[in-house]
Amino acid sequence: MPSMDESWEMRNGLMIPNRSVLAAMTNKQSHADGTLSDEEIRFLIRRAEGGFGLITTAASHVQESGQGWAGEFGVWSDHHLPGLTSLATQLKQHDSKSFVQIFHGGMRAPSSITGQQASSASVNFISESEGSSRSLTTSEVDDTISCFIRAAQRCEQAGFDGVELHGAHGYLIAQFLGSKTNRRNDAYGGDTEQRCTFLLRIIRGIREVVDENFAIMVRLSPVSDEIGITLEDTKQVVELLIGEGIDALHISCWDVFQKQQDGQTLTQKLCSTYSESIPIISTGSVWTAEDAQFVLNQGAQAVGVARVALPHPDWASMSTDASYNPERPPFTPETLLSADLSSTFVEYMRRWKGFVTDGR
Ligand SMILES: Cc1cc2nc3c(=O)[nH]c(=O)nc-3n(C[C@H](O)[C@H](O)[C@H](O)COP(=O)(O)O)c2cc1C
Repeated sequence: MPSMDESWEMRNGLMIPNRSVLAAMTNKQSHADGTLSDEEIRFLIRRAEGGFGLITTAASHVQESGQGWAGEFGVWSDHHLPGLTSLATQLKQHDSKSFVQIFHGGMRAPSSITGQQASSASVNFISESEGSSRSLTTSEVDDTISCFIRAAQRCEQAGFDGVELHGAHGYLIAQFLGSKTNRRNDAYGGDTEQRCTFLLRIIRGIREVVDENFAIMVRLSPVSDEIGITLEDTKQVVELLIGEGIDALHISCWDVFQKQQDGQTLTQKLCSTYSESIPIISTGSVWTAEDAQFVLNQGAQAVGVARVALPHPDWASMSTDASYNPERPPFTPETLLSADLSSTFVEYMRRWKGFVTDGR
């Protein structure tokens, strides 16, 4: 039976010292010009001290037009390099491997933040107040691909071990993958394979400019009714990604225990077919060591956690004890502050129902 303290290997040979992954968490702690703040760096370093084998940063926008949240750090310009380098250098003092999650918000990059109308694969309704996105022209799509490639280069230059391309949760890469949000009739639209062109060209472009030791991981939401992604689409996408030589896959399940109609979980369904070909990380609602073991037993190489790592920064070291059952929400602001969340991040967590004692 696989155990949490075992190391595992990505396809390019990158060794991850254990099976605990800190999943990306937007935390709004950085500066308006996209430079990393000491608070955001400290938050991540504390989780590296806590033993996570792999740390993924918050989603970081590759173009100014792609910013999803205030206080989000960016990777769209060389002026971000000193902060990125400082983070990567400090993470290297621990055993953790480090990835930057790079993304573009697309129709989920609010005009109130970017100062421009949101853009997407097609014209898509966003909300009454935001209206609809506009459709990117073919040359704008090419430009965005170049920005992803340049962003990955910056991450390599800064000293990170890899990037996670954020293709989950309905942001721009997912908007290209989805049949509802991508109704293009140029090279970037059409059937599932054609809708994957945007993602594949990003991967191909990154491969051309980075060293083979620099890892490329992709995060996907396996099913999304909202943007039009079925499990069958995802299987086809995963096959294309394996063919393209990505180094690991991260599936975002929100609830790893939820069963599909045939009684199998998403982790089980994807791992049973693909984990011989590619390491798979699965994330969603893991809290205890027993939960984590469940995910490994379903065939995943590693287990991603987000919320539990906020009050419990040592979760990775502690979860090697099979009886570890950390305290559950709600948490006092003091508990979260003492786990190296800044007051800005605690304020953001007040919006997550039931998480902070004086929140929603
Ligand atoms: C505060 C917060 C911010 C998040 N930000 C991101 C993000 O930037 N990128 C991403 O892919 N997922 C993001 N997520 C989703 C998590 O990575 C994770 O998939 C989700 O919270 C389920 O895992 P959990 O039950 O362990 O929290 C965020 C979740 C939380 C709680």
